[in-house]
Amino acid sequence: MSYTKPAPNFDLSSPSPAYTLASGDKMPIIAYGTFRSNPGEVGPAVIEALKAGYRHLDLAHVYGNEEEIGKALKQAFDEGIVTREELFITGKLWNSDHDVDIVPQAAAHSFGYTRLGASELGDTPLIDTWRAMEDLVEKGVCKNIGVSNYPMMVMHDLVTQAKIQPVCNQIEVYAYYQRESLVNYCLSRNICVTAHTPLGGGVLNSETWDTPIPLKDDIILEIAKKHGKSPAQVLLRSLLQRGIVILPKSVKPHRMAENKDILDFSLTETEMKEIATLDKYVSYKTNPNPLSSFMGGPDAFSCLGTDIFD
Ligand SMILES: NC(=O)c1ccc[n+]([C@@H]2O[C@H](COP(=O)([O-])OP(=O)(O)OC[C@H]3O[C@@H](n4cnc5c(N)ncnc54)[C@H](OP(=O)(O)O)[C@@H]3O)[C@@H](O)[C@H]2O)c1
Repeated sequence: MSYTKPAPNFDLSSPSPAYTLASGDKMPIIAYGTFRSNPGEVGPAVIEALKAGYRHLDLAHVYGNEEEIGKALKQAFDEGIVTREELFITGKLWNSDHDVDIVPQAAAHSFGYTRLGASELGDTPLIDTWRAMEDLVEKGVCKNIGVSNYPMMVMHDLVTQAKIQPVCNQIEVYAYYQRESLVNYCLSRNICVTAHTPLGGGVLNSETWDTPIPLKDDIILEIAKKHGKSPAQVLLRSLLQRGIVILPKSVKPHRMAENKDILDFSLTETEMKEIATLDKYVSYKTNPNPLSSFMGGPDAFSCLGTDIFD
């Protein structure tokens, strides 16, 4: 198996570009994130996102807002804003839901979402969780299964054992944490890479962790100025040009529109190379060294330390 850099698996010149998953299903490349969207805020935000044209929503039981999102979706269907068939929904099993018996219950609980991803580690061997997820596809409970925050070695372990290949790996990727090898590994096997935290988590992460913020990076600001675009648009566009699906979150309608309005310009090869030099290996540890989170080490879920599995 060679790991040559694959071309992006979507057409950026299309008005609604979509990634063709290994299953053949099409997944819109600009998704709407719902993590840290508060109660009372997330429902109206989802309606606004649908009105702004988002057709791929990223949800997770652990975000604690699925019920409100479910109500918002019902409202959107009732009001004719969108149909269920037009939507691609990503849901996730949380770490507590990896036991083989729990997988179908957790899937059912997430009110019959049709696409499912898994996340990180529980006490059950990961391959057993995967087998339970394969079962969900075989029973028609969900159409596609993927993983989240899988570093390279764990990903390879899964790929070599899976009966149904993962269609995607949703991982932390942004300008200061570029993960070239993992991205190439996935894309060379037609495993879609979806970038969560594509803006580096905005000011929320930089203030919490006292880290530099790519939205204020001089190089990004300069490139943005040249194109008459915002720093967020440059960060997001650079990911798309790497063949990566993006997942920005905003509860503000003007930013929802801004984050989607990135198909009418193109970064030059030189600009892409400049952005590639920004990598600082700053991770917010949503991809922790799997055991460190349980051991409580200083690099567990923090931007400190390195991930030996990366
Ligand atoms: N699988 C996983 O483990 C995992 C982990 C983390 C996240 N995720 C998913 O990925 C999504 C995105 O990640 P994230 O929310 O952590 O980070 P993000 O999308 O990188 O950043 C979101 C932050 O940036 C701000 N923002 C959004 N658009 C902006 C713009 N155009 N200009 C300036 N600031 C902007 C948002 O504030 P406002 O809302 O106030 O605009 C928010 O504070 C999540 O919502 C979730 O669905 C998955």
